[in-house]
Amino acid sequence: ARDPLRDGHGRTISDVRVSVTDRCNFRCQYCMPAEGLPWLDRSEVLRFEEIERIVALLATMGVDELRLTGGEPLVRRDFPTLAAALVAVDGLREVSVTTNGFLLERDAEALVRAGVDRFNVSIDSLQADRFFALTRRDAMDRVLRGLAHLATFPEAHPIKVNAVAMRGFTEDEILPFAAFAREHPYEVRFIEYMPLDGDRSWKPEQVLTGEEIRAAIHVVHPLEPEPREPHATARVYRFADGQGRIGFINPVSEPFCGDCNRIRLTSDGRLRTCLFSLNETDLRGPLRAGATDDDLEQIVRDAVWAKELKHHVNDPGFVQPRRTMSAIGG
Ligand code: GTP
Ligand code: 5AD
Ligand code: SF4
Repeated sequence: ARDPLRDGHGRTISDVRVSVTDRCNFRCQYCMPAEGLPWLDRSEVLRFEEIERIVALLATMGVDELRLTGGEPLVRRDFPTLAAALVAVDGLREVSVTTNGFLLERDAEALVRAGVDRFNVSIDSLQADRFFALTRRDAMDRVLRGLAHLATFPEAHPIKVNAVAMRGFTEDEILPFAAFAREHPYEVRFIEYMPLDGDRSWKPEQVLTGEEIRAAIHVVHPLEPEPREPHATARVYRFADGQGRIGFINPVSEPFCGDCNRIRLTSDGRLRTCLFSLNETDLRGPLRAGATDDDLEQIVRDAVWAKELKHHVNDPGFVQPRRTMSAIGG
């Protein structure tokens, strides 16, 4: 084992989010432009063995949580095979997947068999026409079927449902989602809209805060806070009558950078130390040029040491990264 991975602000990194593809079968407004993006060439995307090598190295430095993202991870060919190989990496405590659910009817079983521990499924509206308006795909029913299918596997639980909240859009989804969270064994989380959209049209006024949503639910269904888990993105509440849980991911109104333990690897092999990083560190180049694990370790350590203290979404002069959410992986 190697020394733990630390940044220059006293934080220890124990969580890596790996984007396995920049491609997606949806075109969510808050994530990608309607026309899509110029996809990476296959040769630019890390091969399975390359991802495994980097993850295994990180695991020797104390990274014990892995989340697989995209784009949409399930569109990567043979994704369950990759997931199984990563589950087998020494030192990982948990491997999870964040998906839009479109391919879960096809892949849930293979992913559960591969040993994926947890799944987060994104669903931003419970009304088909609005789901279509937001994702630009008429796929709500299929996603809900995929989610229900996933939920038939006991090993897939606990399942979380992610809903990005946007002012002018999500207000009348709040109580339906609360009802959904009460009727199903899923933790539904509302996520504040962040400036990582493909159209670069994000405005602070479009952020519907978690606190506003929580208050709207609380008057109908009283909520009680659960203890905050270290490094958690979400603040979780339980319904006071004991029926279900609901969470709020508030990166804009209540940033959680102070105890951030995350780094990210893009599908083209760049290390990102923050969702909002303006600089990335290339690992693919050195890897393909024959770098040893010790060489790679030094590159990773130097990058992580310079990890951003916090994001600047709320500050004047904030600069949105060139990559959109779809290419970073959320
Ligand atoms: P759990 O471990 O299940 O709670 O997953 P998660 O919330 O870490 O991951 P998920 O992929 O479900 O992401 C939910 C939302 O949190 C997405 O909008 C992510 O972009 C956002 N998110 C995850 N990590 C960070 C982070 O470090 N910073 C910020 N600002 N947002 C994050
Ligand atoms: N702001 C907040 N969350 C976003 N996601 C995608 N784009 C954004 C954005 N601009 C969410 C997805 C998914 C998770 C990985 O990130 O809906 O649930
Ligand atoms: Fe971590 Fe950056 Fe997210 Fe803050 S914005 S929690 S530093 S990844």
